[in-house]
Amino acid sequence: QRHLISAADLTRDDAVLILDTAEEMARVADRPIKKLPTLRGRTVVNLFFEDSTRTRISFEAAEKRLSADVINFTAKGSSVSKGESLKDTAQTLEAMGVDAVVIRHGASGAPYRLATSGWIDAAVINAGDGTHQHPTQALLDAFTMRRRLVGRDTGLGRDLAGKRITIVGDVLHSRVARSNVELLHTLGADVTLVAPPTLLPVGVPSWPCEISYDLDSTLPKSDAVMMLRVQRERMNAAFFPTEREYARRYGLDADRMAKMPEHAIVMHPGPMVRGMEITAEVADSPRCTAVEQVSNGVSIRMAVLYLLLGGAAFDAKAAPEAAN
Ligand code: CP
Repeated sequence: QRHLISAADLTRDDAVLILDTAEEMARVADRPIKKLPTLRGRTVVNLFFEDSTRTRISFEAAEKRLSADVINFTAKGSSVSKGESLKDTAQTLEAMGVDAVVIRHGASGAPYRLATSGWIDAAVINAGDGTHQHPTQALLDAFTMRRRLVGRDTGLGRDLAGKRITIVGDVLHSRVARSNVELLHTLGADVTLVAPPTLLPVGVPSWPCEISYDLDSTLPKSDAVMMLRVQRERMNAAFFPTEREYARRYGLDADRMAKMPEHAIVMHPGPMVRGMEITAEVADSPRCTAVEQVSNGVSIRMAVLYLLLGGAAFDAKAAPEAAN
């Protein structure tokens, strides 16, 4: 593939190759010089039209670890504020000689448009578009689950077959939920969505997952519980249920966490709203993988960049280190 737009575009073999390559990339982080010469002379633009902390910084870290030249663009402070279009912005970057564009955009479909419009030749990687997709988040989540629930060995068959994953909260506005449901299904996991009816998308019955409105009965049957943030910035009307009601019915606190099997993990893509979907006690517990997910994101993004721009089989033990 030339682009990464949607988790739905990945076959099981594609996904396992990315997870396995990310395991090799993670070994680079354990070396004294955390850098490979793989993308030397290649230019990657991080094109962010929406706010981000984890995704933007971890893509930049991944690109620098692969020795790419990195250009960071944020809509704030750019000519977008003067009315410049996505097409003109993209073509301005293309004129500077770009090999890959990592794009986050508030409009669902913007990365697909960029990849298929013919405006640019560069590889396009979706870093989150509207309520649609966030494929590298789903990949780093699957990587985290595989490490915690299956082990660090690689190869086909080392996937999440039969694992029971519960995703809780604002599914309606969540590109993370949509991407995870698709990728986890591809990897053989059984996914249950738990949400108030008002925060489920109309089309959810056709998704490859179960639906529940009862968190307490789902927790004991879960190997991983992924809490979602309530995305108030994407809501036009008053938030329903109220924050208090939401926390009471769908928030994860220590009492609820105790209902999970002992081996089960708590996940959160971040940013977390402590006290609403997750209490501070749960967020800071060793069972919560939120910080580990961020570290794993660098390895996954290195793997995606490497596979889209580089290509050949990769072995961290054999690869030379780049000078820092
Ligand atoms: N998980 C995630 O996409 O976080 P950011 O919005 O901080 O990038």
